[in-house]
Order: sequence, then C-alpha cells, then structure tokens
Amino acid sequence: MIEYRNLRIALLGAGSVGSQVARLLLEQGDELASRVGAGLELIGIAVRDVDAPRDADLPKHLFTTDARTLIQSADVVIELMGGIEPAREYILLAINSGADVVTGNKALLATHGPELFDAAEQVGAQLYYEAAAGGAIPIIRPLRDSLAGDRVRRVMGIVNGTTNFILDRMDTEGDTLEAALATATALGYAEADPTADIEGYDAAQKAAILASLAFHTAVPVEAVHREGITGITAAQVEAAQRTGYVVKLLAICERLTDPATGVEGVVVRVHPALISRLHPLAAVHGAKNAVFVQAEAAGDLMFYGAGAGGLETASAVLGDLVSAARRHVAGGPGVGESTHANLPVLSIGSVTTRYQITLTVTDKPGVLAQVAGLFSEHGVSVEAVQQTVASAVPGLTAGAAQHGDDRSSIVQLTATLVIVTHEAPEAALAATVAAVSSNDAVVRVEAVLRVEGDTP
Ligand code: NDP
Ligand code: HSE
Repeated sequence: MIEYRNLRIALLGAGSVGSQVARLLLEQGDELASRVGAGLELIGIAVRDVDAPRDADLPKHLFTTDARTLIQSADVVIELMGGIEPAREYILLAINSGADVVTGNKALLATHGPELFDAAEQVGAQLYYEAAAGGAIPIIRPLRDSLAGDRVRRVMGIVNGTTNFILDRMDTEGDTLEAALATATALGYAEADPTADIEGYDAAQKAAILASLAFHTAVPVEAVHREGITGITAAQVEAAQRTGYVVKLLAICERLTDPATGVEGVVVRVHPALISRLHPLAAVHGAKNAVFVQAEAAGDLMFYGAGAGGLETASAVLGDLVSAARRHVAGGPGVGESTHANLPVLSIGSVTTRYQITLTVTDKPGVLAQVAGLFSEHGVSVEAVQQTVASAVPGLTAGAAQHGDDRSSIVQLTATLVIVTHEAPEAALAATVAAVSSNDAVVRVEAVLRVEGDTP
C-alpha cells in the first residue's frame, strides 16, 4: 500500500450534511487518498453541542466546540454549519490560516461571496462550493470549468426541492398548497419555518450564485427579482393543466439587451411560471432539482438530480474536498472567481416574456372584443384565447364596483377567459392588467403568470 502524507481536514457542522460527510470520509478515506495522492485525516468536527445525537455513528473524540483552534490546524476546512455568522468569520479565518475551504452555504455566498472570494484570492487559497446550488447536482463546476470556453445565454432551473414538491403535489394529487406544504414538512423536505423556501429566498440565493458564474459578473442577491409560491392556488394549477402547462417555481438567469435602452446586461429572477408540459423541466417531479443551460456553442444542456438531502449533498462536498486536497498537494494558484464581464444587473422591467392571464368576465356580447382591445391598446399581442362555459354568480364586476356601483343583488352570467400573449415587456403587461381589472366587464383577474420555455 502506498504511504501518503496526511492532509488535515476540519469539519464545521455535523447536521444533515456534515454527519454524512464525516461518515463517508472515515469509511472511504483510503479510496479518497488514492484519488488525491495524500491521506485525508479528519482532525475534528466543530459543533455547538458535542453531546447532541447525530445521524451517523461518529467517534466522540472528534467533536469540539472550539472551532477556531480546529480551523487553525487544518489544511482544508469544510464549512457545513449554515447561516451567516460565525460561518463567515470562520471561513475568513481558514483562508487567512492557509487552508482551502469547501462550503455548501448558499446564504453566505449569495450575501458575502465577493468578500470571501477576494480574501481567498489575496492569499492564493481556494473556495469550493458545489453543494451551494442544486445539492448533489454537478452544476457549479460545469458552469465554472466545462463551459468556460463558451458564452452562456440563459440558465433556467428548478433549484428548490421543497417548492417543487409542493407544486408537483398540487399538480398530480390535486392538493391545496397548505396540504402539500404539510406533507413536505412531514417528509422532512421543508424546514420547520419554510419561509425561505416558499417565499423564494432560497432559490434567489442559488440564482445569484449561478448567474454570477454563468455571466462572469458579480450578482448580489438583492438584485434578484423574487416572488414565492404562496399566491398559487389549486384553481391556477388546474387552469394550467387545461392549457397544457404546469406551474413551477423557476430561477431564470439571462443575458439580454434591454429593449428600451439598448443596454446589454443580466437579469436574474425567481418566480412561479407556466412551462409547457413538453419542456424537460416539466418532467422534474417531487423534490428533485434540474438546471437547464443554454450556451451559444454547446446548445441546450440539462442537469438533473437531488437538490437536497444529507447523503446526496455530501457527494458534492466530498467531490470538492478531493479537488481542494489535490490542489493543496500540487500547490499553485487556484481558479479565482471570474467577474471580468462585469455586466450591469438589470431589473425585471428589461425582460420580455409571454404571459397567461385568466379573467372572469361577464358573459355578454362584445366583452371579448373589449378585452382584446385593451391588450392591443397597450401593445400586447394576443397569441391564444380560450373561453370556458358560462356560470351564474351574484354581484357586480370589479370594474363596476370600483366605479361606485352598489347593485349587489344583481345576478350575472360569467365566463372564464384564458389569454396567452406573445412576448411582451413587463411594463406593457402590467399596464394591460391594470386597464383590464378596472374594466366594467371584468369581474376578477384570477391569475397572471409568466410563460417560459417552448409552447405546447
Ligand atoms: P444542519 O442545521 O442540519 O446542521 C448544522 C450543523 O452546524 C449542526 O451540527 C450544528 O451543531 C452546527 N453549527 C451551527 N452553528 C454552529 C456554531 N455557531 N458553531 C459550531 N457549530 C455550529 O444543516 P445542514 O447540514 O442541513 O446544512 C449545512 C449547510 O449545507 C448549510 O449551509 C445548507 O444551506 C447547506 N446545504 C444543505 C442541504 C441539505 O439538504 N440539508 C443541501 C444543500 C446545501 P449542533 O448539531 O451541535 O447544533
Ligand atoms: N431547502 C432547500 C430545498 C434545501 O428545498 O431545496 C436545499 O438547498
């Protein structure tokens, strides 16, 4: 057996991911050593409570609450604590103590990435973060290395497993959002406080990381347009089904030219959207993630797999550990963050996309023409209109009520109009929706959803 010099590995955190990383590192150390050309010695695991139960059977003597001392003795530090502080402080300490760092901390990278990358570059250290977006899915390395010779135009993905699970249950089981969320919590997909997932914060952090890599431009998380899924109703999901679509929470990072100003930049957005049931992302079920990349030379690429889970995410972390350890052995400068393009980050107002607008209208002659006229007045071209059978409801239209009419006992026949537009600017669509909702013939605007991907 070949004898290698040992690299000293410090692990910060032994929760869902950290405990699996420690277990695999201890069980598969010899195999990893052969891949690295050096032994990998786990010298300690920093946690808050050394006596807390762990998901894996790990030697007690490795646990410590003294993270700082542990970090200062390590060649590679793996940060799997999560949160901003003290993770930020510990990573900076590791970098400045001569260690390379592996982390899965998307919240930290999306908010303090530039500071950490600058610190690493200054001392020639390396920061690896494959687990920070897409869990087990290799997407960071393909964007950073494999596609380094190409020009990425668009990255569109399902990067949050909890929300995909919820929307998928609503689509396949007819669940309400509340029922689907309760199931996600029971199955351990959603956190006790699921706000970061269902309000899109988690996806926005991952989108900021992916966009920064794809477009060689630092994209702060605050610049990501974010809408969560809490407004999605069972009726909207059903309506999507009827028209050949499925609702997904998408993270979309694109390089485009603002039609109004001619400025080329990057727009990053997270919101629920309709995608054709024929699009590859429509086939992403349960808590799975997938990222669809469009590059000028490579064309369309899709990366699919487990976006979360302790064991699955540990795979990405250990892959990074092997890279970090190899570099530590070989020496030489690491690959710095590439932000040379430094494109302006534009607002969602620069985006043109297609929309599906669902309206309840009074069912009488001329209403369709009136509504179509409002779209045309605002320069929004209609691609398709679907009208469903009329029903009788009491009360007045939203437009009439807004105009002070209070004949609340009137019974009227209503119909549902589902209008799909051609590509239109966000601003034109917003003005159209405002005009439509104050029209006397319109009872309610039921839903406005962007349509992404190919038409069914
Ligand atoms: P957990 O909450 O399960 O575990 C966190 C661990 O960090 C615990 O062991 C905790 O110690 C320890 N810890 C927290 N604060 C401190 C501190 N101040 N000092 C020392 N130890 C501390 O997190 P996960 O394993 O789920 O996630 C870890 C990271 O991986 C996060 O950044 C997360 O975003 C990322 N990630 C997670 C995925 C997943 O599926 N879980 C998927 C992709 C990325 P103690 O146990 O004693 O409380
Ligand atoms: N809460 C995240 C999700 C975990 O549901 O995808 C992985 O980052």
